Parts: sequence; structure tokens; C-alpha cells
Amino acid sequence: MTLSFAVPTPDAIPLAIVTPDTLGALVETLPSGSQAWVQTQGFTAALGQLCTLPNETGDIARVLVGFGNEDARARGRFPLASAAQKLPEGTYYIESGLTPDALRENALGWLLACYRFDRYRTQPQPAARLVAPDGIDAQQIETIAAGEALTRDLINTPASDMGPAQLEDAARALAKTHKAEITVTTGEALLDQNFPMIHAVGRASPRAPRLIDMRWGQVGPMLTLVGKGVCFDTGGLNIKPGGSMGLMKKDMGGAATALGLADMIMRSGLPLRLRVLIPAVENSINGDAMRPQDILTSRKGLTVEINNTDAEGRLVLADALALADEETPDLVISMATLTGAARVALGPDLAPYFTDDDNHATRLAQAGQRVADPVWRLPFHTPYEARIEPGIADLDNAPSGGMAGAITAALFLRRFVTAPYMHFDIYGWQPTAAPARPKGGVGMGARAILDALPEILDL
Ligand code: BES
Ligand code: ZN
Ligand code: ZN
Repeated sequence: MTLSFAVPTPDAIPLAIVTPDTLGALVETLPSGSQAWVQTQGFTAALGQLCTLPNETGDIARVLVGFGNEDARARGRFPLASAAQKLPEGTYYIESGLTPDALRENALGWLLACYRFDRYRTQPQPAARLVAPDGIDAQQIETIAAGEALTRDLINTPASDMGPAQLEDAARALAKTHKAEITVTTGEALLDQNFPMIHAVGRASPRAPRLIDMRWGQVGPMLTLVGKGVCFDTGGLNIKPGGSMGLMKKDMGGAATALGLADMIMRSGLPLRLRVLIPAVENSINGDAMRPQDILTSRKGLTVEINNTDAEGRLVLADALALADEETPDLVISMATLTGAARVALGPDLAPYFTDDDNHATRLAQAGQRVADPVWRLPFHTPYEARIEPGIADLDNAPSGGMAGAITAALFLRRFVTAPYMHFDIYGWQPTAAPARPKGGVGMGARAILDALPEILDL
């Protein structure tokens, strides 16, 4: 769906953004009837509170929007987004009173709050629309919202309609929009082209595994994004219990976030060379499924003992990362719903990331703060390397004991990359609705990366 600002209309409704500190002064400017009405409503300008003021004909003349105090705002992101979610259908504009930074965050929050996953709805769900505030780059905000909407749509689509082939279709559509090149290696061709682990993970599904390879841009530094595209993760023969399998349509959340970020980069026309690699598979079960204790030889030549068929993400990513590393990208970023351990460590709000570059880490964390996309660094703790080295192969895909599961998964991936590398182990899902993040698929880290790229890649 398209998330865009409204065209200004003469009957657009003004929004007065009020804090508990500014409420008194504002109320004094109102006609006496409205002053009483504000009191009757119990409006205190608490964060998210609304007070609509009618005109003589009973339409909404103006809305007071509670912006709360600083402490209240510090407890969340996108303070105006809950207003956007509560207001009746119509066109609104912000009167004044927000700093440029707050305007930017809230304008984006408003667009993201208007996101609806309506593919399976017969009735449209209306939204309150916002006129682009003056003094912000409205187009840039629409660009970010478009990328995020793509990510959400891809994650929210159930696996029945989002298998490897449909993920390929989505990548092809994106490539077409931006005149990017795309090639896809499918099924048995994965063996011919030396992607043995992508094939091994995906071969038990009737929906053939594939590797999607998209390129865009002719000049500038080279950025390669690698996204985990497990369209459904049953766990394979180490089958997941029902409770753990319930959300696994989102196991292509890394691919969805990489494609959303790619969309933002291409729409922004950043001066870089972009490559996006998506191993798209379904981790399924049949007589041909990979087994515990099988040993696979990866594209890079490292052998991997399968100690849990549910640790499939690192296998498909490893072959894609090895391919990425065969040229000399300036930066490789992988994005994946890789481990339950990352979710346990940081929950659904914070994107865990790994890098060996302190400068990149600082830039990224600061960018995350600027664009309301918080990220948190976890360590590539080298002393844990021994944990991913089993007895009879080079690597173990599922170290026993499960300690530091997000770190050992990240260390596994790092074995396949020599270029500068950053890895995100994201959750990709909003479990309960929050401002600007309705329940369902959600991008994590993409906005922070987009904002940090000019500094990290010297654009
Ligand atoms: N897709 C899951 C990870 C996951 C689970 C992400 C729940 C977000 C929420 C992944 O393929 C997986 O099952 N990983 C295992 C690895 C383990 C067997 C070493 C995990 O994290 O439990
Ligand atoms: Zn799994
Ligand atoms: Zn998985």
C-alpha cells in the first residue's frame, strides 16, 4: 500500500499540539464555550489524549492533541502516531510548535500509523491523513514509509501466498520499478552453481529453493545486503512445537527488511552500488529432508555438521555471504530472524546488531536515535568460536547447550565473510500494537542503516 501525505485542502483540520506546560496559555486563546469544553473533557494534554473542538455546524473545527511531557515522550517513539490512529477519517495539518526533529519523526510516525495490511480485507480501513508539514523533506519521509510498507506487506503475507517463488516475484517487481538487474538460481541449478546449503535446506519443500541476486547503481562504494528468506520455518525434522511455529511466516523478515531498505536506497538515489542477495527457501519436511548429523560442504568449502535442522537460517545465509564475499564489497550487511536468543535478549523493539568496527557501531547507534529506529550492539565474542567447532566437521550449526545463541550464530556467519561486515538478528514482528507499529510484520534497523550509510560509506 502507498503511504503518502495528503494534498492540502481548504477544509483541512488544524491540530494544536499541546503539552501540560502550554495548555493554560492555549486555553486562554479559546472562546469561553470551548474553554469549558476542554475542562469538561478532562483534557490535560497527556500524551496521546485528544480533544476535538466543534464549529457552529457540528464539524470538527480544530483538535487539541496531547503531547505529554518529556518523560512521557521518552517512554516511546512517534508521540503523535496514537492521535493519527484515533482521529476520524479526514485531512489534518499540524499548526506549529514542534521542532524540526520532532516534526520529522512525527510526520513519519503518522504515515506509518496509516499502514493497513488490507490484502485480505473486503472492507477498506480508513485513515486520518496528514498534510506534509512545512520545513521537512516530505519526499524523503514518503520514501522511508514506502520501504517500510513493503517490508510489512511481505512479512504479513501468509506463507501460502509468500513462498520462495512469490518472494522472487516481489524482488523482480522491485527491480523493475528501479531498473535494477536481477538473476535467480532455482532448484537443482543451485547445486550446479555451488550453493549446496541453500539447496539442502530448501529441497524438502515442493516449492523450490532459490537464490535471488539483484544489482543496482553504477558508481560509488559497494554495499551488499543479504536477507534470510525462509518463507516458512517448520524447523525441519527437528520440528518446532506448535507454539514456536505459529509465527514462522515471518522467517523471511530479514529478506523483507533488506528489500525494504533496498527500496529506500534506490528511491533516494544514493550514490552507491547495491547488491541484494536473498536465499529464498521453505524449511520443510519430507523423505529427502536434511537430517541431524548430516554434514554439508558449503560454497566456501567449509564443512558443517547439522546438529539441528531448525538452525537453517545460518546455512542459507552462509552460502549467500560466501558469494557476496567473492567480490570486494565495501560493506556486507546481513539481516535475519536468526535466533530466538536475540529476541530473548532484546525483545521486539530493539534491533540487535554485530560489527567488529567500533566506528560503524557508533555511527549506527547514533543514526538509530535520530530516526527512531533503536539498535543495540551485541559482541562478535571471538572466545566463543570454539563453541561452533564440533568434532568431525569444520563447523556446528547448533552448538549444544544453547548458551549465547545469538552470538554463536553471528560467529558462524562471520566465518564466511572477509569484507567489512555487519549482521542484524531481528525479530521482524510487532507482537502488540504500538504507535506507528500495528501488530504484525515490522522492519527493524533499516532506517538506522539508511541514515548511517552516508557516514559509514563516505557518500
Ligand atoms: N527462525 C528461527 C529463529 C527465531 C525463532 C526467530 C523465534 C525469531 C523468533 C531459527 O531458524 C531457529 O529456529 N533458530 C534456533 C537455532 C537453534 C536450534 C540453534 C533457535 O534460535 O532456537
Ligand atoms: Zn529454524
Ligand atoms: Zn528460521
